[in-house]
Amino acid sequence: MVQRVAIIGAGVSGLASIKACLEEGLEPICFERSDDIGGLWQFTDSAVDGRASIYRSVFTNSCKEMTCFSDFPFPEDFPNYLHNTKLQEYIQMFAKHFDLVKYIKFKTLVIRVKKRPDFTITGQWDVVTETDGKVESDVFDGVMVCSGHHVYPNFPANSYAGIEKFKGRFFHSREYKGAENFKGKKVLVIGLGNSGCDIAVELSNTASQVYLSSRSGSWVMSRVWDNGYPWDMVTINRFDNFLGNILPTAITDWLYVKQMNKWFDHENYSLMPLNRTLRKEPVFNDELPSCITCGTVVVKPSVKEFTETSAIFQDGTVQEDLDYVIFATGYSFAYPFMDDESILKCRDNTVTLYKSILPPKLEKPTMGVIGLVQSLGATIPTADIQTRWFIRVFKGFCKLPSESSMMDDIDEKMGKKLKWYGQSDTLQTDYITYMDELASVIGVKPNVPLLFLTDPKLALQVYFGPCSPYQFRLMGPGKWDGARNAILTQWDRTLKATRTRVVHSSQNSFPLFALLKILVISLLLVAIFMVFN
Ligand SMILES: Cc1cc2nc3c(=O)[nH]c(=O)nc-3n(C[C@H](O)[C@H](O)[C@H](O)COP(=O)(O)OP(=O)(O)OC[C@H]3O[C@@H](n4cnc5c(N)ncnc54)[C@H](O)[C@@H]3O)c2cc1C
Ligand SMILES: *[C@@H]1O[C@H](CO)[C@@H](O)[C@H](O)[C@H]1NC(C)=O
Repeated sequence: MVQRVAIIGAGVSGLASIKACLEEGLEPICFERSDDIGGLWQFTDSAVDGRASIYRSVFTNSCKEMTCFSDFPFPEDFPNYLHNTKLQEYIQMFAKHFDLVKYIKFKTLVIRVKKRPDFTITGQWDVVTETDGKVESDVFDGVMVCSGHHVYPNFPANSYAGIEKFKGRFFHSREYKGAENFKGKKVLVIGLGNSGCDIAVELSNTASQVYLSSRSGSWVMSRVWDNGYPWDMVTINRFDNFLGNILPTAITDWLYVKQMNKWFDHENYSLMPLNRTLRKEPVFNDELPSCITCGTVVVKPSVKEFTETSAIFQDGTVQEDLDYVIFATGYSFAYPFMDDESILKCRDNTVTLYKSILPPKLEKPTMGVIGLVQSLGATIPTADIQTRWFIRVFKGFCKLPSESSMMDDIDEKMGKKLKWYGQSDTLQTDYITYMDELASVIGVKPNVPLLFLTDPKLALQVYFGPCSPYQFRLMGPGKWDGARNAILTQWDRTLKATRTRVVHSSQNSFPLFALLKILVISLLLVAIFMVFN
């Protein structure tokens, strides 16, 4: 009998899950509370309870070649960084191409997920749903939790002294949609993450003054990297990752800080992170430094307390006459449909998952959480490989270690996480390391030494070029015949987005020089591989 898998949510994680189930001969049934796919990228004019909510001007901070599903490149004429409506368009194209929508039950809320009484033998779940007030219950062999992790606001307003006296308006960034109502107002934005910086920059054109308050600072990077290439196309690659892993920490830390300060000096822009070597996700914002230097955004320390009209900061300074305070303080995770939430939050009420996917204490590995882990890399390819890993584990093709080894692995990762990313709720990890870890278990990690022997042209792109999602479709289960070509043409699609007015240059000495460089590097590399293998 075909095994049935319940998928909760039809955002990018849910869609990837439907596809992964189909690829492995399972029957997916996806429940989506709204009436459309796309999840977070499905923009709504006002925030809806229980769903992610974005502002009108959200752009991706990962570029199209690094953000796509691993066997479905973006059209070449799409821009490199995408407005949310553009990404939603792509998600629709993806769902249509693989014919995924027919597996989704829309306007259907999953209200309860519970182990069946015979769970230890069957691994089955009872899933209770509600459609138009009608409640139904059904039995499933597996459950994939794809309900999103930017839904429940981390809203610490009540922990700020005096906030109850404040006469202006204050709210969480998920309520923010656009700058319309802020004309001539004084606004304080709290939190130096991507949302906080985006909102501060956007308001700086409309509000009379914007203050941006941060406790621990952040690195702020430009999407536009050296020579105008997308930052992630240049910096996320296997060669740099390899160097990062073999060089002593003192050197990588030094290089990291130097790199981060190349564009502008973070200390003199009051943005410097307290712990400067933490590899916390940087903020991507091309305009913030310009707003700071033009004075439209003023960076402040954290707020000590509020009065009726003002904020008093930790350094004793006071900002009077504030009209609005926006808390861009991020999100916390919840799974309200879980009958027993401790399955997912099995320690200290925090989400504890093997490989950031699997609850380690389940008698049968029949539940997976998709899209939770955070890294410098994009969510779509990460969710994609997570679903493939989970399905292989679910089907018993990949052996799991014992519960205690899984807990040890989780502890080890937690230790690493603390060291590299600091204390935070999110499960931060290194993108390539994580992708490879899952990929090697399911047998889809590209075999670079073999590639250098059989297909050197491709190998060079795979090793020195961007670690784009197509790399995980070159071989093994789920192999895609178009992967090689997608890798060899990824730079063409990147350039196509910006070379919209072609000017023929007369002198072009670049190719020869690049070829020489590649030759030298590949010789070096072959030598390295011979030593290590
Ligand atoms: C402002 C912002 C910018 C971002 N920018 C980027 C970026 O540039 N690049 C990137 O890779 N990532 C980015 N992200 C991360 C983003 O979360 C992921 O890209 C991705 O959208 C996550 O998809 P998901 O499917 O896991 O969750 P979601 O998109 O949140 O989808 C979850 C779905 O589940 C449904 N659902 C929830 N609960 C239930 C239930 N009980 N029953 C039925 N249905 C339910 C919801 O309606 C929703 O459709 C950004 C996030 C934010 C907030
Ligand atoms: C930052 O400011 C200090 C003065 O406080 C100055 O000495 C230093 O040169 C500045 N840094 C840079 C990189 O400009």
